[in-house]
Amino acid sequence: MSHAEDHEGTRRDFLYFATGSAGVVATGAAVWPLVNQMNPSADVQALSSIRVDVADVAPGTQLTVKWLGKPVFIRRRTEEEIAKANAVELSALPDDNARNKNLPAADDANGADANRTLAPFGEAEDTGEWLVMIGVCTHLGCVPLGEAGDFDGWFCPCHGSHYDTSGRIRKGPAPENLPVPLAEFVDESTIKLG
Ligand code: FES
Repeated sequence: MSHAEDHEGTRRDFLYFATGSAGVVATGAAVWPLVNQMNPSADVQALSSIRVDVADVAPGTQLTVKWLGKPVFIRRRTEEEIAKANAVELSALPDDNARNKNLPAADDANGADANRTLAPFGEAEDTGEWLVMIGVCTHLGCVPLGEAGDFDGWFCPCHGSHYDTSGRIRKGPAPENLPVPLAEFVDESTIKLG
């Protein structure tokens, strides 16, 4: 083989490899592999509890943090979003469970909006303002988009799942509501996850 042919072969290999890598990166951005999440490594387990400063989260906005390898949506809902979520008949919910890790099993069997929100620090009454959810579509693991979809909540563009302003699945292939992780306010502006 001449030197010229040799170089050409090397360049082709490089281009092929580079294209393959770009594909992997693009997929990684859209899909959060569930397999990895089921086997957290030691360093991930060490961060099984984190504190998030939510002082700057205004009503109608959302903070997304990465926790245990997954995006977590921390949304401060507007009065309108709360009212919309409360107006939904439970019979209209494809998944009528709350999917809230903070609730005992008996309460979790009721998917009412009040069973999905996080009470502010020191408040006996939950205002319904704070909604904390794992931002992974329960169909095949894409990250849903906020303030989108037919119910003005979240929309998963991968296969068209629509979630309402409580993060409950309303239409599309996703089988379950977006899950609510273990979470609590530890002071007026800090949420502890885990
Ligand atoms: S992964 Fe969300 S609809 Fe399929």
